[in-house]
Amino acid sequence: MKKIISVGAGDYIGQEVMLEAIKVLNKIAKKFNHEFEFENVFVGGASIDEFGVPLHKSQMEIINNSDALLFGSIGGPKWDNVDSNIRPEKGILELRKNLGTFANLRPVKIFDDLVEASTIKKDIVKGTDLVVVRELTGGIYFGKRETGVDQIGQRYAIDSMKYTEKEIKRIARVAFEVANKRRKKICSVDKENVLDVSKLWRKVVEEVSVEYPDVELSHMYVDNAAMQLILNPSQFDVILTGNMFGDILSDTASVLGGSLGMLASASMGEKGNVAMYEPSGGSAPDIAGKGIANPIAQILSASMMLDISFDMKEESEAIIDAIDATIKTYRTPDIYTEGAIKVTTKQMGDFISKNI
Ligand code: IPM
Ligand code: MG
Repeated sequence: MKKIISVGAGDYIGQEVMLEAIKVLNKIAKKFNHEFEFENVFVGGASIDEFGVPLHKSQMEIINNSDALLFGSIGGPKWDNVDSNIRPEKGILELRKNLGTFANLRPVKIFDDLVEASTIKKDIVKGTDLVVVRELTGGIYFGKRETGVDQIGQRYAIDSMKYTEKEIKRIARVAFEVANKRRKKICSVDKENVLDVSKLWRKVVEEVSVEYPDVELSHMYVDNAAMQLILNPSQFDVILTGNMFGDILSDTASVLGGSLGMLASASMGEKGNVAMYEPSGGSAPDIAGKGIANPIAQILSASMMLDISFDMKEESEAIIDAIDATIKTYRTPDIYTEGAIKVTTKQMGDFISKNI
């Protein structure tokens, strides 16, 4: 099969780990007889440097003409002082809006060999296998905003959270579909004891659940969910939630495995739209250029792309198996535990690629 993949490596470690993901994809292409064509695009800080804006329409065109976007990570101190309208983060939000990627899937599965690498007791993290389904193009991130000075001279700022029934329905359906292929349990997370948006959220999710009689639905307040993720993460299968709660809870869940360097994510819209795959961690400026960044999250993102956008299940699993085999022996510093062999970003990519 021939596929065109747009590649936005972005900033700092984004560039380093992307090289390893491409290496692995090339190996997959060779082994399974596919042709992958890579089109580099500028995103985030790299785009500010090139075009003066965090997302340029010429790059959007390349992305729209591709079969999927493999994204790295963006931002960092170099652009901390640019105008807030052209910050790298703005680029990623625009990208999500343009691609209509309303559904963000962030799986957290702890590789058995890595339970020791977690900062949380191994009896608690062992067996964790959950996915956060986060609404990504609505809610407080995209609500009406205002900044000003009131009559008595106080500066104020407003960000508003709005969800329509339609927005809740479509993300709920994604979560139910995902749950149907897993352990058939959804925990919908909201703040229904305080927010009207959450009251509507709960009602609509309940209505959608009627279409999926095999899936068990429960509800949890977001503060409790944050606590439960640390106390007893294996109780969760699918966590369904809005944009901001999903942002926070996915970072919380991500540390269970010991390193952000292990987590991939997929962002998708309606069928046929270009979907975007990226590591859940950031551009990690503090470790950039040292050759120690863990490329696994980026490589797993490529694996999700093969599975979801290209329907290449076997190829996708070949990557996961190769990672599993590799980390039995070789570890980047973030997941290093006694007895393992410490390797660089590049070596990790080499070993995973060899194990395919
Ligand atoms: C994420 C990030 C982004 C978000 C930022 C960079 C805008 O934290 O993807 O989780 O808040 O969505
Ligand atoms: Mg985040």
